[in-house]
Amino acid sequence: MNPKVSRRTIIKTGLGGVLASMLNAPLLAKTALSQSVHHALLGFHAIPVADLLDDIVVPEGYSAQIFYRWGDPVSDGAEFKMDASNTAQEQLQQAGMHHDALQFYSLPTLSNHFERGLLVMNHEYIDPQVLHRDGGALDSLSTYTVEKTLKEQYAHGVSVIELKKESGSWEIVRPSHYARRITACTPMLVSGPVAGTHYIQTEADPKGQEILGTFNNCSNGKTPWGTYLTCEENFHDYFHVSTKKNISKKQKKSWKRYAIKHSYYGWHHHDERFDASQHPNEPNRFGWIVEFDPLDPESQPIKRTAMGRYAHENVAHKMAKDGRVAFYSGDDAKFEYVYKFITKQQWDGTQGAQHGGLLNEGVLHVARFNETGKGMWLPLIYGQNGLTKEKGFESQADVLVHARMAADVVGATPMDRPEWVTIHPETADVFISMTNNSKRGDKGRPKYDAANPRDDNHFGHIMKITENDAASTTFDWTLFSLAGDEDSGSTINGDSYANPDGLMIDSRGVLWVQTDISSSKLNTDKFAQFGNNQMLAVDPSSGETRRFLTGPIGCEVTGVVMTPDLKTMWVNIQHPGEEVPAVMQARGIEKSPSNPNAASNWPDHQKQGRPRSATVMITKDDGGIIGA
Ligand code: FEO
Ligand code: CA
Ligand code: CA
Repeated sequence: MNPKVSRRTIIKTGLGGVLASMLNAPLLAKTALSQSVHHALLGFHAIPVADLLDDIVVPEGYSAQIFYRWGDPVSDGAEFKMDASNTAQEQLQQAGMHHDALQFYSLPTLSNHFERGLLVMNHEYIDPQVLHRDGGALDSLSTYTVEKTLKEQYAHGVSVIELKKESGSWEIVRPSHYARRITACTPMLVSGPVAGTHYIQTEADPKGQEILGTFNNCSNGKTPWGTYLTCEENFHDYFHVSTKKNISKKQKKSWKRYAIKHSYYGWHHHDERFDASQHPNEPNRFGWIVEFDPLDPESQPIKRTAMGRYAHENVAHKMAKDGRVAFYSGDDAKFEYVYKFITKQQWDGTQGAQHGGLLNEGVLHVARFNETGKGMWLPLIYGQNGLTKEKGFESQADVLVHARMAADVVGATPMDRPEWVTIHPETADVFISMTNNSKRGDKGRPKYDAANPRDDNHFGHIMKITENDAASTTFDWTLFSLAGDEDSGSTINGDSYANPDGLMIDSRGVLWVQTDISSSKLNTDKFAQFGNNQMLAVDPSSGETRRFLTGPIGCEVTGVVMTPDLKTMWVNIQHPGEEVPAVMQARGIEKSPSNPNAASNWPDHQKQGRPRSATVMITKDDGGIIGA
């Protein structure tokens, strides 16, 4: 904690009463009374931190089963080959890499039987050293082929898999009429104010109406009408800028603000649309929320431009009293913002993809967190609040393509990497994770403030927003928890964690918190005490926190969903086996294309194996409710 920010200061700057009770929660929790009250929500025995254990651990009385790994066929496609020799075409029919958020759909829709269903999930990015037998473009450009580029593009995107319950346990249905993969090459439509405008017109799509693919699909959301929303996060990592000659001043400014500079994957070597110097509008076609209907395997995904372009982490919705729908989404980068899109029209309460048009019209807002524990949602509307020609904006499409720059102008509050948003089913409180921000307080950068109370914020925090109504343009906010250890001023009541990322509140009101300590810091120095990345269960009223799951070496735990009866949970384990310096030093080896399992060999643990991101299915051995 910044030495200047004492516990007292936080109480003063946040909403005093609520925050004070949160800070005192550890004391209260020690009383027999509060223990008995809280048992109703959390009923399992917490597990210890996992120190370099290459496996999943869940509490006593629970089982975790490997369910859907990178390379597993979605339907009747080819089986996975452990030496990574599957072709690009085979990858197209298999699970992508780096599983992130997921959603469950009952079949038939809204059924109460829970005997059939769909799991829909994102595959955020790839590890070329694991995806290929001999690495990617950064390992060796001379062996980087068109086939490798395609395999990388096909390992991105979304999976839809069909499930059925057999003898009390969920299995994947193969073949399946519903199963599909959406990738970085799937043709999709574009709608809303940016559709057809010059910002997204390219040589291949002169009308600006059809975009090839979606990628870096981090987390997701579900609309109230039942479609799936996938969020395009770090799209800038895919574009290469070789020269800025002939690039307009405005475009250069935009590239700087959106960090379009360097490609980590090298697709531009074989797919020239990723060379931004040649195709300067191509990056404007990414950074959106994309909607599709998993129940219709033929449905074409649609990029919803009214919701703004930035590094969307996830999206969560809440109903306004008058029937309009509010969608909350964070922009996960240091000093970026939290946004809320409010539809213009009301939703009539019925299901179906025909309601998608609601996402084409509405107002995008960005949050300003005042020092007083109050806040405002500032509208990003062309012609208002300084979003004018004088400031370089020419239309509403311009404001949406450059939402970050518009948010700068209206005076939004720069945050410590806003990641997931989740909404409490009863109180409608909005919880948002801020994962970390090592740059806060650096020379020339914003210093700590009430809503981001620590300079050099290593461990992150979770905020809570309370609103009268989802359509409100004002709100109250508090710091729900400061993560980390006692030395850093943590306010966690129970098992500690660092770098909160995934958040999901289930229908009983349990807040599930997933962590993403970066591999370079995992198991090292001040992060060693938190062990491998993990998932915890939190009682939002008391703050009581219990560790529920720990992941294998080098992974991030991200994505959690439950069946409506809360008796089955799926959790995604992303990028096991990323290079963790503490592990590599202890073992005296390095991860490389010829040594892909140097850090982790989870989940298959085969001698010549390679680590695979995977969905894990969790059940309670007595068939009961997870977490209770
Ligand atoms: Fe993809 Fe910000 O996590
Ligand atoms: Ca994340
Ligand atoms: Ca993260």
